Amino acid sequence: MALGDWWRHGVIYQIYPRSFQDSNGDGIGDLPGITSRLDHLNDGTPGSLGVDAIWLSPFYPSPMADFGYDVADYCDVAPEYGTLADFDELLAQAHRRGIRVLVDFVPNHTSDRHPWFVASRSSREDPRRDWYVWRDPKPDGSPPNNWRSIFRAVGGAWTFDHPTGQYYLHSFLPQQPDLDWWNPEVRAAMHDVLRFWLDRGVDGFRIDVAHKMARDPELRDNPAELAQGDVAGIQRRDEDWPEVHVILREFRRLLDAYGDRMAVGEVGIYDPERLVRYFGEAQDELQLAFNFAFLVQPWRAGAFRESVDRYEQLLPAGAWPTYTLSNHDNPRARSRYADGDDAGAVRRARVAAMLLLTLRGTPFLYYGEEIGQADGEVPADRVVDRDGRDPERTPMQWDAGPGAGFTSGDPWLPIGSEARAVNVAAQRDDPRSMLSLYRRLTWFRRRSVALREGSYRPVGRAPGVFAYLREAGTERLLVALNFGHAPAELRGGDQGLPRSGTLEISTDPDRGAGSVPLSSLELGPDEGVVIRL
Ligand code: GLC
Ligand code: CA
Repeated sequence: MALGDWWRHGVIYQIYPRSFQDSNGDGIGDLPGITSRLDHLNDGTPGSLGVDAIWLSPFYPSPMADFGYDVADYCDVAPEYGTLADFDELLAQAHRRGIRVLVDFVPNHTSDRHPWFVASRSSREDPRRDWYVWRDPKPDGSPPNNWRSIFRAVGGAWTFDHPTGQYYLHSFLPQQPDLDWWNPEVRAAMHDVLRFWLDRGVDGFRIDVAHKMARDPELRDNPAELAQGDVAGIQRRDEDWPEVHVILREFRRLLDAYGDRMAVGEVGIYDPERLVRYFGEAQDELQLAFNFAFLVQPWRAGAFRESVDRYEQLLPAGAWPTYTLSNHDNPRARSRYADGDDAGAVRRARVAAMLLLTLRGTPFLYYGEEIGQADGEVPADRVVDRDGRDPERTPMQWDAGPGAGFTSGDPWLPIGSEARAVNVAAQRDDPRSMLSLYRRLTWFRRRSVALREGSYRPVGRAPGVFAYLREAGTERLLVALNFGHAPAELRGGDQGLPRSGTLEISTDPDRGAGSVPLSSLELGPDEGVVIRL
C-alpha cells in the first residue's frame, strides 16, 4: 500500500448533521445545510479550514431514539435531513472541492422499527427471527446472561418481548436490537448496504462500534471481574470476539474491490494491545482504527507522551495511527481541559489543536473544535439523549445572530451560551483566533511532508513538556508543547538539537516570529510551538 493513500495524510472532519446547518428553519440541521457550508471546510484557499474529508454521522431514516444510530432504512435519507438527491448533490459539491466523504455504517444493530426487526419480532417462525439475538429466559424468568448495555441508564442488555416469550439482545437502547452476525444472511444484507453507498460514490465509512459485531456464540456470562470495566488479560464475552476479525476482513475485501475506498473503525477498546489487532495480521482489516486514549487521559505531558509512544511501539508495520480530541459521544476539548479556569482552557485547547495536527497519524476534527466551541448548557427540560451527550452536540456557532447562523427557527438543542463571542464570523478575520490557529496548522500540515508522512521521535524529558521531532528527507520539525500553567524550558543542547531553529507557529499569538535558541527553549504557560530545524 502506497504511503500516498489520501486517508493517511488528510485531515478528516466529523459533521453531526443534526447540528451543523439548518437550511429550512425547522431547527434541525440537514444535508442541504451541510452543502451550503462546504466552503468553510475547504474552498482551496488558506482562508478555509483545509480539510481533506468529512465524516457524516448517520442521516438515514430513523425514529431517532439514538439520533440516527438506530437505523430504520440503511439506504435512504431521513426526511428531516433531505433526500437521496440532496445527498448526491452534497457528494458532488464536496468532490468538486476535493473533499472526500465518509458515511457512518452502523452494522451492530438496527432500529426496532427496521422492517427486519419488525419481522423478526413477529413470530418465532419468521424467516428473519435469527437475524437478531433471541433467547429464552432462564428458568426463573431472568435474562439469559449478565451482559449490560453500554448506556448506564439502560441497565441490562436484554429486553423481554411478551408476544413471543423471549428476550432480545441490545448493546445500547432497547430500541437498538443487536443483529446476529453469525447469520450469513445478515452479512450478505449488510454487504449490500456497503455496496449501495460505494456505488453512489462515497469514499468510505466510519464503522460504528466495529468491535461489537461478534460475541460469544454461547452467550456465556461476562466474568465477574469485569463488572467495573475492562481488566487486561480477561476476555469479555459480549464484544471483541475473535470472529469480528473475519467480519472486518470481509468488509476490507469488499472495499478493496472498489479501489481507493477506506474504513475507519470506532473500536471502543482502550487497551492498545487489543486495539492494534483491528488492523489485521496482514493489514487486511481496518485501514484506520480510532485511538480514543486522548479522550480519557488527564491533561499531562507525561500521560500524552506515554500513550503516543506506547501506541507507536505497538502499531504493526504499515499500520497508521489516528487521533481525535472529541466527538459526538465525548466532552469537547475546550470543556474537558477547563479545570475551572476559562482563559487557561482556551490556551490548552490551542495546545491540543497543535498536538492533534502535528502528530504522526490522521487527525479527526469534530465540528466546532476549530472555533474552540465549548460544551453547551442543556437544562433538564431540554435533555434529549439517554446517555448525557447533548452538551457536545449543540449547534455549530456560525455567527452572533439569535440562532448562531445555524437556524432561523428554534434549534433542536439550545445554542451555546458563548455563541455571541465564539463563532466563525467573529474569528474568521482575527489572526489571534482559534480558527486562525487551526487554519494555520492545517495548511502548514498540507505543505509539510514531515508532518504528513514523516517519522516521530520524542525528545527531552523536561517536566510538563511533551516534545517530538517529525522528520522526512531534509525537512526536520520540532514540536514542543507545554502542558503546564507555568513557563517551561526545553534544553535542546542535551538532545543533540541544533543551536537554533526558526519558529513556524506558536499557539501564543503574541510570540514573535524568527529565530529561537534551542540550547534553552523557553515556552510560555500552556504554549506550544512548531520550530523548523
Ligand atoms: C457509537 C456511536 C454512538 C451510538 C452508539 C450506538 O458509539 O458513536 O453515538 O450511540 O454507537 O450506535
Ligand atoms: Ca432543517
